[in-house]
This record gives sequence, structure tokens and C-alpha cells, in this order.
Amino acid sequence: MAKAVADDYLRRIPKAELHCHLAGTLRATTVAELAKRYGMTLPRPAETLYQWPDFDGFLEILRIAAAVLRTPADFTRAVYEYIEDAVRDGNLKHVEFFFNPDYFYPNGIDYPSQVAGMVEGLRQAKERFGVSGLLICCIDRSLNNGDQAVEIVETALAHRHELVVGIGLDGNESVGPPALYAEAYALARKGGLKCTAHCCEDYLTPLQAPPTNYLICRDVLRCDRIDHGYNMLASDFVMAEARRDGLYFTPCAWTSLLHNRPHRPRRIRRMVEAGLNVTINTDDPAMFGTNLGHGFTTLFESNGWGPDKARTFSLNSIEGSWLDESAKAALRKTFRREIAALDKEFGYETAALPV
Ligand code: HPA
Ligand code: ZN
Repeated sequence: MAKAVADDYLRRIPKAELHCHLAGTLRATTVAELAKRYGMTLPRPAETLYQWPDFDGFLEILRIAAAVLRTPADFTRAVYEYIEDAVRDGNLKHVEFFFNPDYFYPNGIDYPSQVAGMVEGLRQAKERFGVSGLLICCIDRSLNNGDQAVEIVETALAHRHELVVGIGLDGNESVGPPALYAEAYALARKGGLKCTAHCCEDYLTPLQAPPTNYLICRDVLRCDRIDHGYNMLASDFVMAEARRDGLYFTPCAWTSLLHNRPHRPRRIRRMVEAGLNVTINTDDPAMFGTNLGHGFTTLFESNGWGPDKARTFSLNSIEGSWLDESAKAALRKTFRREIAALDKEFGYETAALPV
């Protein structure tokens, strides 16, 4: 059966990435090169580095990869390389990176130096590719209790940078349920930071990462956006609430666990069909062996979606972003122009584009 939309159209439609972890974007070859430079022994060579038995094993490798970033220049390189790859593989126009500052402290790089390195990477990528970027200071719940999370937010506020626009919460959801972080999130909001949190991830069962975690993220953490969200599907009530709330979700087409990969397209389809505001993201692209273009082609092939859905996801990624209104307006123009050109090239009728 012919595909409802060409893979090349999906790869080339413009995109903003709202959910990717800097450590998970590191090319294995870059990790190996930097590890050698710093005399750090990796568990395996680059070709097989990105393998793990389970979710906590994945987090362990992620933190090992992160440990090769030791100077501002390493952070600059990491940011630049992700953007270079994502422009090529998925026509990236804007990215919002999670970074976990405490992953890097053991190697002697403080918060301002991390941020300075990433900001320089964003500057270089903007100049070379025209891609914009923002940063999200992230709390790994597997490593940080509520008090430690407050310290992370205090650091972000003490060294406020205009490109660090929000906080996030990642790591193992069953170890750190969202309510633990109420104080950290209140502090962040008071300081003018936006808030998102990983929620209802499907490496856990709906009993371990229950749909009610969404309600806690909404009402206690007062999140502006939600990362993932699949286990919410277990509750019609929570799905109806989320539809009414209208928050943007950042599910990811590919995942750390092989056994979950076949289920993601269906879970994301159900989120879309339930009327949630969905964007499509990569999470940890280098580690998972995926990219923005691949994520789109995988989802569209499984779900039989056509170009209309591609346009919706493309434009949703602007609306769900944390850019200011004028930057969003500029991106909308660029996206609409590129989408119209693609539609013409591929012979797809341009229906009225969603606003
Ligand atoms: N979930 C939780 N922790 C993570 C993830 C994720 O998707 N990616 C990197 N750390
Ligand atoms: Zn994530």
C-alpha cells in the first residue's frame, strides 16, 4: 500500500524539538573521543556503548556519557553537534534542551560555566543554521530529593540566564513522585521560570506511574507543559481533564526500552485522538538511535497519517514552545512558507492550516 505521505516530506517539514536531553544527544563517537582525552574508561567501545538492560541501566549510561562534558567548549560542541544532526535529519528550526547541572559537578564544571558553554553552542548554531534554542534546567528525581531539588533551582535563579527559561524533572518516576518537588517548583515559578515535568512514562505500569501524576503536575507543580504522558491513557477522567486543560505534551516517537517501541505509535495516536495538544520529540536521539525525521516517519507509517497531521505536529511544536510571542510569530511565518513549498513540491493540497 502506498504511504499516505512521503518519508522525505516528513523529514523535511520544519520542526521544533521540545523534549531532548543534552546528555542523550551526544554522538557515541564524541563521547569516546572526549573520554579518551580525559583518561576516562567507558564500559564499552563507541559502537556498542548505547546498550542497557532496563530503564535504570539506561540512566546509568546516560550519566556516564554526560561525564565527558568537562569544559565550556565540550558543552558548546555538544549543543552544536545535536543541532547540526537535527537540521540534517529533520529540518530542526528550534530546540529546547534539558540539562542536569548536577551530572557535571563531579568533574569540576560549575553551573555558570555549563550554561556559558551551551549558550555559545546555541550562538554558533544560530549563526550557521539559523536555529534558535532555549535551555531547561532539569532535576533528576533518581538523584535528588525535594531539598536537593530546591538547591538546584536556587542555583539556576542565582545565576539567572535569559536562555534558561524553565525547569524540568526527569529520572525514575517511581523513585521521585511529582509531589516531592512542590517546593522546588514553587520557587522556580516565583522566580519567573516555566515548569515542565516527565510524567506517566510507559517504562512503568499505570500503577507505578499513575494517571493522577498528571493532576499533581498540573495542580501542585503547576506545570506549563508535560513530557511524555502515555500512562494517562489508563484513565478516561484524567484524559478528559487534560483535553480541557489544553497543556502541550511532548511525547517521543522512540524510547529507551525495546519492548516499548512497538507501542509508542499507538499510544501517541490515542493521545492525539483524545484531543490533547501533541508535539513529536526524540528524547535521547543519539542514545536511542533515532532522530526527528525518523520519529516522524515511524509514527506516520504505523498510524497511516497523511500530510495534514504532519502540518499539525509541525505547527504545534511552535505553539508548545517557550519562545516569546514575537519569536513564535516569526517561526510561524517560516514554517508556513516552507510547508507551502513542500506541499507544492510533493503535490499535496494545502488545506487551511491550523492556526
Ligand atoms: N525519562 C526519564 N529520565 C530521562 C529521560 C526520560 O525520557 N531521558 C533522559 N533521562
Ligand atoms: Zn525525557
